Amino acid sequence: DWVKEIFGLTELEQELAAKLQIDQVIVVPGDSDQSEWVKKEIGRHGAQLLKKMVIPNQVVAVAGGTTVMAVAEMMTPAPSLKSTLFVPTRGGLGEAVELEANYIASVLAKNSGGTYRLMHVPDQLSDEAYRTIIREPHIQAMLETLRQARIVIHGVGDAKRMAKRRKSTPHLLQHLDQTGAVGEAFGFYFNRQGDIVSRFRTVGLQHDDLKQVEYKIAVAGGASKAEAIIAVCANAERQILITDEAAAEQILK
Ligand code: F6P
Repeated sequence: DWVKEIFGLTELEQELAAKLQIDQVIVVPGDSDQSEWVKKEIGRHGAQLLKKMVIPNQVVAVAGGTTVMAVAEMMTPAPSLKSTLFVPTRGGLGEAVELEANYIASVLAKNSGGTYRLMHVPDQLSDEAYRTIIREPHIQAMLETLRQARIVIHGVGDAKRMAKRRKSTPHLLQHLDQTGAVGEAFGFYFNRQGDIVSRFRTVGLQHDDLKQVEYKIAVAGGASKAEAIIAVCANAERQILITDEAAAEQILK
């Protein structure tokens, strides 16, 4: 659109898509690190894109975090999303409730007019509890639904910042340091080459499940996330990124 032409964002988007080697990039003006409003803009574009991509009776899996929450908050009623089922990518990662995927899935459904299903599973489980829980029929059914997800909307985080937000052990922090983890998404930690160097063993979307997904929509902005975005996009297929100018310019440096 003309606003983008004036700000030269279309060119920036093309440059960024080429550098990251991903399918599509949307860049909004500004820096999310500096302004909440820019994060909301990323959210608004995420909501818009979702409405454009929708097909009937699809499953959309949503991750947690403030940026995916912005997508949910900016969502408006959409007849086309009425038959969409929103599900969380996993139980909880030990974060504040309003940042959890479960809650965000419910807000997305409420604001769009779609439906949602929740997954009540604590995330830090003993081996024994984990093995028992994944055999539960309703959990099996939920994981089956998750595997049918056509679209996944997810955030991207700086590896260390995310590990701290989740109150991870010093042991994990040290491990992340040693393995050169810089980015985090879906509960996986990535090095700069895009290899997964550490992961939570949780009940939810597994790495293999991502291969079935038609589109992954990453929503992440702010110059401080540049390295993390590079890492998470490095090996990604069918990846779409909605970011901001500050992150884009830092990535292209
Ligand atoms: O914890 C869920 C999660 O989506 C992480 O995978 C990601 O790193 C983070 O949230 C992004 O959070 P935010 O959008 O608040 O920076």
